[in-house]
Amino acid sequence: MEQEFRKIETESRTLVRETSGVKELEELRVKYLGRKGALNLLLKKMGALDPDERPVWGKKINALKRELEDTIRSRREELSGQTEDTGNFDPTLPPELFRHPGRNPVISVLEEVSDIFVSMGFGIAYGPDIETDYYNFTALNFPEGHPARDMHDTFYIKGSDRLLRTHTSPVQVRVMEKQPPPYQFIAPGKCYRRDTIDASHLPSFHQVEGLMVDKDISFAHLKGVLDEFARRFFPGETVTRFRPSFFPFTEPSAEMDIRCTICSGGGCSSCSGKGFIEILGAGMVDPEVFRHCGVDPDKWQGFAFGMGIERMAMLKYGISDLRYFFQNHRSFLEQF
Ligand code: PHE
Repeated sequence: MEQEFRKIETESRTLVRETSGVKELEELRVKYLGRKGALNLLLKKMGALDPDERPVWGKKINALKRELEDTIRSRREELSGQTEDTGNFDPTLPPELFRHPGRNPVISVLEEVSDIFVSMGFGIAYGPDIETDYYNFTALNFPEGHPARDMHDTFYIKGSDRLLRTHTSPVQVRVMEKQPPPYQFIAPGKCYRRDTIDASHLPSFHQVEGLMVDKDISFAHLKGVLDEFARRFFPGETVTRFRPSFFPFTEPSAEMDIRCTICSGGGCSSCSGKGFIEILGAGMVDPEVFRHCGVDPDKWQGFAFGMGIERMAMLKYGISDLRYFFQNHRSFLEQF
């Protein structure tokens, strides 16, 4: 008894201390503490001992059982943070954590839209996200106190005349006042409006602005360029239509619709029964805007347009809720 006990005692203590895996630890627990484990077998052998020796050995064996239970429990806690070596580990595989989840569709669409215009000869211009009231409104023919300013729910920066731009149109002014015509560029970028987040509103979104100014540019050029863009961006038989609209910085102004790709014009829930879906605003540059930029409106004419990129991505991929774009859920991003 003495010999057997000592052997189990030293062996179990060493093995539990030295074990390096949770699986191995469980095997040791079964080996020593299991129903048919070494210590229970030893307890059974006590029947062969002198009656007065039995309680002495019973105490010793049970004490070792409790000790082993404790050390196995704490060893398991130490080891459980570690992954098991399955023997199949391939150290050349990229770590799971950094697997590329796909691109955000807003960025892909921004690039796709830009590429189409670049292929039609448009350059690219950028302007600041933090704008002044002058560039965002006044120079674009939104006079101070004019109700047209209410069309934009603006984030104003306290104690200054600065604001977060509500559209990319200020880039038109910044480029035109710096260099003489002709112009043919797009201006992609972020815009901000004080909207409460829901399925169709985000306080920060993306637009692509466009400006084309030269001698003898007419509304026919506007229609030709935007029609070509819509047919390239939306696959299939894309039909466009122009509706009269109003923007302070274009005259005349229009909105371009595409025929609903879901119902082909018959009217459905996606197009609110209209058969057409609005995709952008456009118009001939108002002479007042040219004057603010030092461009002679008697010599130069042109058109401008602006479109919301999240909206284009929603239409192209059939996404029903704008919030998907910034939640960055892996299951969403992996589709693009
Ligand atoms: N800036 C306008 C908007 O945000 C869009 C637009 C741009 C309209 C250029 C006409 C010309 O709604």
